[in-house]
Amino acid sequence: MKKSKRVKKSNSWKIKQHRDQYFKKSKTLGYRSRASFKLIELNKKYKFIKKNTNLLDLGSSPGGWSQVANQIIKSGRILSIDIKEMEPIKNVKFLKTDILEKKTKKEVIDYFNSNIDVIISDMAADTTGNKSLDSIRTNQLCFEVINFSKNILKPKGVLISKLFMGDDFIEVKNLAKSVFKKVNFFKPQSSRKESKETYLHCEILKSL
Ligand SMILES: C[S@@+](CC[C@H](N)C(=O)[O-])C[C@H]1O[C@@H](n2cnc3c(N)ncnc32)[C@H](O)[C@@H]1O
Repeated sequence: MKKSKRVKKSNSWKIKQHRDQYFKKSKTLGYRSRASFKLIELNKKYKFIKKNTNLLDLGSSPGGWSQVANQIIKSGRILSIDIKEMEPIKNVKFLKTDILEKKTKKEVIDYFNSNIDVIISDMAADTTGNKSLDSIRTNQLCFEVINFSKNILKPKGVLISKLFMGDDFIEVKNLAKSVFKKVNFFKPQSSRKESKETYLHCEILKSL
């Protein structure tokens, strides 16, 4: 077998192993998606979900991140939003709607009474087959979330958002830095290595 074919085969074997490892683990632990492990890793690193956190989960379906947040939060409120349906989770309020709509933003503000500690967004635009376009569309959602969080987060609040390391990465980073005092990027081990996905961690609004 040619060397390039061997390398390709061993890489796809590693990718499959990586997927299977988290897939099996999520089934054993009762999580709805492998994405749960990304939030677990992010929270282990930055420790933003506490017992009394008021949390907004954007792009929540099928519910892996909401499940993880719900295991930790005891007295705070959790509001999860997705354009797709999500099976109910006890103590989690779900809205099936588009976060880009004005009325959704108003519903969020009313639900929390402008008292949000943490926003987590794992939103991703539907894939088109064009990786560069997909990355731009998902980063557009990240732009939206940063701008929205400016108006609804508590001054010392935290924002976590998925983004892709594409051409517009610097623009997202600059916007985040114009809004928050602290901005970090972290790629969890459970995120596929070959994926350009990473996560933005921001805290403390500059208006403070
Ligand atoms: C990667 S999945 C999220 C997985 C989820 N974090 C979990 O742990 O199960 C991305 C989600 O973002 C949602 N999404 C994309 N655009 C959205 C929008 N404008 N408003 C609300 N949800 C959106 C999609 O419907 C999809 O369910």
